[in-house]
Amino acid sequence: MKKNIGEYLARHMILFSILYTSFSSTLFAKEDGLARTPPMGWNSWNAFQGNISEAKIKTAADLMVSSGMRDAGYVYLVLDDGWMANERDIDGNLVGDPVKFPNGMKALGDYIHSKGLKFGIYECRGFLTCMKLPGSFNHEEQDMKTIASWGADFIKLDGCYAERNGRLSSVELALYSKSIDKTGRPMVLSISDFGNGSWAWGAKESAHLWRTSYDIYRSIESVYSCANTTAGNEVIHPAFNGLWQFAGPGHWNDADMLQVGNLKNSKEDKIHFSLWCILASPLMAGNDLSSMSNTVRNILTAPEIIAVNQDPRGFQGYKVYQDGILEIYNKPLSDGTTAVLLLNKGDKHADITITWDKIGLKGKQKVRDLWERKDLGEYNNSFTATNLSKHGHMLIKVGTPGTRQIPGPAPVPFEKYAVTRTGATWLSELYYVVKYGDAPKYNSNFNGDTILVNGTKYQKGLGCQNSSRVMFKLNGKADRFIAVVGSDNSYKGNETSRFRVLNEDFFGNQVLFDSGKIKSDSSVKIDINVKGVEYLLLMFEGKKTYGDWADAKVINTEN
Ligand code: GLA
Repeated sequence: MKKNIGEYLARHMILFSILYTSFSSTLFAKEDGLARTPPMGWNSWNAFQGNISEAKIKTAADLMVSSGMRDAGYVYLVLDDGWMANERDIDGNLVGDPVKFPNGMKALGDYIHSKGLKFGIYECRGFLTCMKLPGSFNHEEQDMKTIASWGADFIKLDGCYAERNGRLSSVELALYSKSIDKTGRPMVLSISDFGNGSWAWGAKESAHLWRTSYDIYRSIESVYSCANTTAGNEVIHPAFNGLWQFAGPGHWNDADMLQVGNLKNSKEDKIHFSLWCILASPLMAGNDLSSMSNTVRNILTAPEIIAVNQDPRGFQGYKVYQDGILEIYNKPLSDGTTAVLLLNKGDKHADITITWDKIGLKGKQKVRDLWERKDLGEYNNSFTATNLSKHGHMLIKVGTPGTRQIPGPAPVPFEKYAVTRTGATWLSELYYVVKYGDAPKYNSNFNGDTILVNGTKYQKGLGCQNSSRVMFKLNGKADRFIAVVGSDNSYKGNETSRFRVLNEDFFGNQVLFDSGKIKSDSSVKIDINVKGVEYLLLMFEGKKTYGDWADAKVINTEN
């Protein structure tokens, strides 16, 4: 993608607000009025992991108020893993760890509420949590009822062990969503399944936010990596330019909890915060509030930076430029202005210029520095952030408040990534919606040469290497999936390869086809029923091998 993001956007920069609104918020999303802007709060995990207690959490609640965080918008106090007892009670109900939480969870919820905060609590859809405490599998309705009875307003639902449940993730999430509705208590549902493609396979029908990456840790590299899964091409076809089109009021891509205050210095903390704000990611602070410095507090509560995140239009920022060192993001706002982040990831000082045509503007535009809270004046056609040092950045607001909203880029049309027609659709005609490992090559082997499997050449198909997974949206419109699979003949070694086809995501574990281990000089033909399948996951496992999904296509026989 690199520099052509600019060209791509220029081509697609058309008026589409109406289309976008109907596409992103009404068609597929859970519409219950919750999480209209990205939820803000504090979560115990990044600061304490499982080492939590009533005293610590009450102190955190007190500090959320006294530090000004609550009033800056951080209202959810979320108790992460480690709060529950090892065993359920004799009626199978979840109970809090009696040593860590001697007064029980209801009393804790009451305390949190008495501080004008909202209470969030962690569970897991596997039979165990990630810390191997009781998970909610087979107790979904009962647990949602218990948690609601403690006054919870937010549930973080993890994904450990969910692949053993034997149920599609979309089906499981719908079950949680219904169970929550049944309690009669409004609760935000936050999915934490490590970037399992939830944005693509319909989590937003049931959940308000979903993780887009593996767990964040205390380093700027991890921060950049989480931001990149949300804003870049690491997990989705480059045509999407990140995950922005899957977010909007009520449904958010979650780049994971904040490490602001846990990084090396305030420069790193600031760029981390700016990235989460421009990406409209939920803002769940993860630092120990009892040792928070004024500098960290000022970062977390910076009003004009938070306003970018909480903008009611709910447009997720997207990249308009990247070259591996310099990056520019744009987030059109509700008041007719737009927020632009200019970032230097390189070792050397650099200037970065944003030209107005990349963000749908022209002529003279007002520019405001949001960290400095200072108007910088009017700029003709472009603005340059000068002499930015390593991890240095500027977050600016461009334009005049109160003017017509600036359109964002057009989302990728549905038919470009979903099966919509009768007859044959080759998978290489569709943009994939999730990938892990190396992206497949379209209509060639991984090297870019003609696909050659077991001595036969194929003009169409997907070329993979090593171990990779890729998901396509069949949209319930296909009857059969047909392909020939095997190592590409350009591979001369003896390693075997294995091809599996799953209905929906990895956690659902619904295997429709398994080739077993195939020798490098042979192939297997796939011709399977995929009626009703919404998403098809292709899994290739090979060591240093090239694997081809030759002539991979779906057939819709409907007239
Ligand atoms: C997973 C989640 C984390 C945290 C831990 C708790 O790793 O992704 O955010 O909740 O589990 O065990």
